[in-house]
Amino acid sequence: MAGSMRRALLFACVCLLVNSARAEDPYRFFDWDVTYGEISPLGVSQQGILINGQFPGPMVECQTNDNLIINVHNSLPDPFLLSWNGLQQRKDSWQDGLSGTNCPIPPGQNFTYRMQAKDQIGSFFYFPSLAFHKAAGGFGAIRIHSRPLIPVPFPSPDDEFTVLIGDWYTTSHKALQDLLDSGKELPSPDGVLINGKRGSNGSDFNVEQGKTYRLRISNVGLQNTLNFLIQGHSMTLVEVEGTHTVQNSYTSLDVHTGQSLSVLFTADRPARDYRIVVSTRFTNTTLRSTAVIRYAGSSGPAFEPLSAGPSDVDFSLSQARSIRTNLTASGPRPNPQGSYHYGSINVTRTIRLASSAVWSAGGGRLRYAVNGVSFAEADTPLKLADYFNISGVFRLGGIPDAPPPEGEEAVRSETAVMNSDHRSFVEVVLENGEDGVQIWHLDGHSVFVVGMDVGTWSEQSRDGYNLVDAVSRCTVQVYPRGWTAVLVALDNVGMWNMRSEVWARRYLGQQFYLRVYTPTRSSRDELPIPDNAVLCGRVATAADGSRSLPVSRRDR
Ligand SMILES: *[C@@H]1O[C@H](CO)[C@@H](O)[C@H](O)[C@H]1NC(C)=O
Ligand SMILES: *[C@@H]1O[C@H](CO)[C@@H](O)[C@H](O)[C@H]1NC(C)=O
Ligand SMILES: *[C@@H]1O[C@H](CO)[C@@H](O)[C@H](O)[C@H]1NC(C)=O
Ligand SMILES: *[C@@H]1O[C@H](CO)[C@@H](O)[C@H](O)[C@H]1NC(C)=O
Ligand SMILES: *[C@@H]1O[C@H](CO)[C@@H](O)[C@H](O)[C@H]1NC(C)=O
Ligand SMILES: *[C@@H]1O[C@H](CO)[C@@H](O)[C@H](O)[C@H]1NC(C)=O
Repeated sequence: MAGSMRRALLFACVCLLVNSARAEDPYRFFDWDVTYGEISPLGVSQQGILINGQFPGPMVECQTNDNLIINVHNSLPDPFLLSWNGLQQRKDSWQDGLSGTNCPIPPGQNFTYRMQAKDQIGSFFYFPSLAFHKAAGGFGAIRIHSRPLIPVPFPSPDDEFTVLIGDWYTTSHKALQDLLDSGKELPSPDGVLINGKRGSNGSDFNVEQGKTYRLRISNVGLQNTLNFLIQGHSMTLVEVEGTHTVQNSYTSLDVHTGQSLSVLFTADRPARDYRIVVSTRFTNTTLRSTAVIRYAGSSGPAFEPLSAGPSDVDFSLSQARSIRTNLTASGPRPNPQGSYHYGSINVTRTIRLASSAVWSAGGGRLRYAVNGVSFAEADTPLKLADYFNISGVFRLGGIPDAPPPEGEEAVRSETAVMNSDHRSFVEVVLENGEDGVQIWHLDGHSVFVVGMDVGTWSEQSRDGYNLVDAVSRCTVQVYPRGWTAVLVALDNVGMWNMRSEVWARRYLGQQFYLRVYTPTRSSRDELPIPDNAVLCGRVATAADGSRSLPVSRRDR
């Protein structure tokens, strides 16, 4: 009690500004300046997005339930937003930082995100969400540690490393965006980066013999699945997007775009250099980067040749199926993860989502769609339009619950929102009829990945669902000409982006928003609009021409 009193006093002035109801949980403050700066990660000078001069951006490191106050100053000449891949924003899609939830931070101005890592642990990342900014950087790691008294199902590692991996273009993000705007496909990427660099022969990670390290790996790239391995070492998977997993050992792991995971590895080999090898998967030409793990007292450079895990769908699929929840381990709370029996909850709705690529007849312009609908950006964030009851911005129910019948090729372009009931329990079948890997991400929630296969999904596919220890995560892959089934408890009221993590697909329409709705407008279910919300589009003028917002405490 005394401790929390002291903390409350310490943060008294801040709490008055922010929210007195969160005073019991610590605050962490970040002040970020976003600028363009010259970078040359592949040896070619290009314009990158830096945060406080850094590429990749600084890490957000915190503990379960910490309040994160991140003041983002936009020193770019363009509108800008950051979004938080995996941070659930409980009751608070106001902080999600996407064009459907927030007005852009205008050039020269700032916006303070006030978030909480509520009931979460794990490894995630943030990224710039507007335009094609993600191709220029502006991303960084998010690390949420367990609280001290919560048991973690493995011994505390001697050290932890962030490993942000991703494909990379030497072409500027604006040129890539122009290409997409003109209806063309992106070319193949030019390389792969590890923490903003293409391999080196220097010491990227220093280790000592006999010690165990945790690597928190996120694929922050634009499209390519990446295979990750450490020469001569096996890795123990311990966490996937906030879920403690069954601790299987792997010699290489596939990390799909937008996904995050943690592995432990022990420096148990003769002291020398070893390489981390990151290679593109499912591509005709393999792009590869390496980074050096150097043992203290290293006797020499890493050995050649570089190995890589097999690059085939069967291998990747069976690996994906082996990733399961450790039911006896705890998550953010001390109770075991298996105490929530998702397999015995009745599904109230089944949604089948099929993705497609279409070239319009006339100009031959490329668009991507889901269930025959290609998302059109609106002039006003959907969340604000919804809150201020402004009609005509989006269409509720615009996305059907099933793909259009076979042979119906027409795709419409629409600002479509899917409606859903708060606390419904939904089965979502993601169908991929194309030749590339598809990756879906849902904001605000984690989903149980109960089934995954090649071929066509049918009702009989349910017989093979894992209803016991499926992994719970926020980003899932769908293999070429295959399907993935997830179960999700829609327990977070708000406006949530469902998107392809293949960034050109998302940019050209393969996304929509899921409105998780309750008729009660209570701060028990959803926090009120923040008093620093930026207004724009139809909202700036519609709200009596005044910028004054309802005065309300942001109680949790
Ligand atoms: C901009 O930063 C100031 C502090 O420097 C802060 O008081 C203000 O709330 C921020 N603006 C927004 C819109 O969050
Ligand atoms: C690292 O060393 C290898 C030979 O061991 C060489 O082929 C490679 O070009 C070097 N890479 C860098 C980035 O210096
Ligand atoms: C890979 O090669 C095959 C056969 O040559 C071709 O059909 C396919 O389009 C290529 N894929 C990519 C991604 O370039
Ligand atoms: C699951 O977690 C427990 C700790 O709660 C740990 O002792 C056990 O080794 C883990 N099991 C597996 C299969 O990873
Ligand atoms: C689930 O559905 C079954 C069969 O329709 C029904 O018997 C059961 O009571 C339902 N369970 C719950 C918790 O609603
Ligand atoms: C929007 O409409 C709802 C229901 O009619 C009402 O309760 C709410 O106050 C309205 N919101 C605003 C900002 O006018």
